[in-house]
Amino acid sequence: MTVLDVNDLEVYYETDGAPAQAVDGVSFTIEEGENIGIVGESGCGKTTLAKAIIGILPDEGYVNAGSIEFDGTDLTEVSEAERRRYKWDEISMIAQSAMNSLDPVYTIREQIVEAIETHRPGTGRTESEEIVSEMFDLVGLDPNRADDYPHQFSGGMRQRAMIAMALALEPSLVLADEPTTALDVIMQDQILKRIGEIQSEINSSMMVITHDVSVVAETCDRVIVMYAGQIAEEGPVEEIFGQPYHPYTIGLKRAFPNIRRSDQDLLSIAGYPPELADPPDGCRFAERCPMATDRCRNEVPTAHHMGDDLRTYCHYADEVDAGFRGRADDPETWADTEAARDARSVAEGDD
Ligand SMILES: Nc1ncnc2c1ncn2[C@@H]1O[C@H](COP(=O)(O)OP(=O)(O)O)[C@@H](O)[C@H]1O
Ligand SMILES: [Mg+2]
Repeated sequence: MTVLDVNDLEVYYETDGAPAQAVDGVSFTIEEGENIGIVGESGCGKTTLAKAIIGILPDEGYVNAGSIEFDGTDLTEVSEAERRRYKWDEISMIAQSAMNSLDPVYTIREQIVEAIETHRPGTGRTESEEIVSEMFDLVGLDPNRADDYPHQFSGGMRQRAMIAMALALEPSLVLADEPTTALDVIMQDQILKRIGEIQSEINSSMMVITHDVSVVAETCDRVIVMYAGQIAEEGPVEEIFGQPYHPYTIGLKRAFPNIRRSDQDLLSIAGYPPELADPPDGCRFAERCPMATDRCRNEVPTAHHMGDDLRTYCHYADEVDAGFRGRADDPETWADTEAARDARSVAEGDD
């Protein structure tokens, strides 16, 4: 069963000039019990996408077009009051910064109990307290610490408290935005395992946002690679990381350490994602792409369906196998892009 169906979604931010097209024509679905990863560099629209889904965009952010169907209801069409009913209860979010999402003036227990009592009006105090203890246990926190205030917790503990809160109402969809970046690697591993276990107990679906490719490889069934507000490539985890077609995915993968090939130098993709208030005309990645041609700079790529269940937004997806994937391991390949040439000419001072 499809839990979430996002169709041609556009989420913009008002700015002084043209709106920033933070999410621009994004479509995907999440099935019941499925984990989907969203990866991409900073500024590509990942957090905006999650905020639009749960309905917590800031005032200057708005859905410009498209739909977000949750269990068959288009959330972009319902009233504010109705929208609030979905929050925490049906869709919850583990936010990028746990400190900002926990209220400093209430104890952790008060906050979780309040969420439970708001969304499950019949629940008695004792039962709510039991849920708090149970959730604390689950995420590896001492239930006796539930009466602490957020500032009495370390960063890692706050992150765990946030996870406890996000899972307390057994939502059908959990949005986890960089859930473990504040944690060290060992704790990150424990927490991800925990989330996975809890999740399979309550059969929820999860969207995991991260810039860390290894987190997705460990926890997700499918991956969406986002670039500059759009989907560059989407498909099963093994295929996206085993045999990607989009040059951006290929580069991104090589930019992360690989335990099997620890002798390799990490690659860096020269340049930055484009300005979203004035994105380039053709493929948004063209400037940083070693395969780019004039066609890429002028024509927006459409979806190429590769294999059973993978789509790539690259004009040359069919030709990647023939050579680019092999050449992409070589840093020289990535030195031959518009962005890399620009960087060199700035460094040489001859711009
Ligand atoms: N409140 C805002 N007002 C204007 N622009 C914003 C706002 N929040 C985010 N943006 C812009 O939207 C784009 C996507 O941001 P974000 O969704 O946070 O990306 P990510 O989570 O992938 O790092 C960025 O270019 C960012 O500058
Ligand atoms: Mg973000």
